[in-house]
Amino acid sequence: MDRLYHVLVFIHIFSAILGMGPGFILTIIPKTATNLIELRHSYTIRHRLHIFVMIGGTLLLISGLLMGAIRPYLFQMGWYVTSLALFLVALAMGPTILKKYSTPIKQLLASATGEKIPEEYYRLSKLLYGAEHLENFIFIIIITLMILKPF
Ligand code: HEM
Repeated sequence: MDRLYHVLVFIHIFSAILGMGPGFILTIIPKTATNLIELRHSYTIRHRLHIFVMIGGTLLLISGLLMGAIRPYLFQMGWYVTSLALFLVALAMGPTILKKYSTPIKQLLASATGEKIPEEYYRLSKLLYGAEHLENFIFIIIITLMILKPF
């Protein structure tokens, strides 16, 4: 069981790097776009990178829960339970807040014509980036809890 636990820690840490790493830079990718064509392309890149976040995030949750199943005392650790709760909050933000703010942007990018980025985009993206910064902040708290295991 000890061996399996350590394999899970290995998978967990790799998933954290491959899943969370790209996740943290999603917000900055469209910032360099100077016209509509570049902006559309930056959203295509975001979409691709988000696949890593989804796979890494799923593996993080599964490996984390399996570690808890092998060592049930973890469910009595504050850092573990808090991280799990925060992770579920962050997960729930995907189909709710993030979807709500990203859908109008996708529609705008599909319908806009010409090369100029529509003014409306800047208003909509501010809302989306606010939610993404909150999500990133939650992940920073989780990573800190994972490393320090303070309580
Ligand atoms: C944003 C999500 C997460 C990230 C980036 C992350 C990252 C990490 C990292 C880097 C470590 C190694 C820390 C160390 O031991 O020095 C770790 C440990 C651990 N994580 Fe996570 N984690 C995340 C979510 C979760 C969740 C949701 C759970 C529980 C369901 C969990 C359970 C654990 C456990 C049990 C360990 C301790 C492994 C050990 O050293 O024995 N993690 N995590």
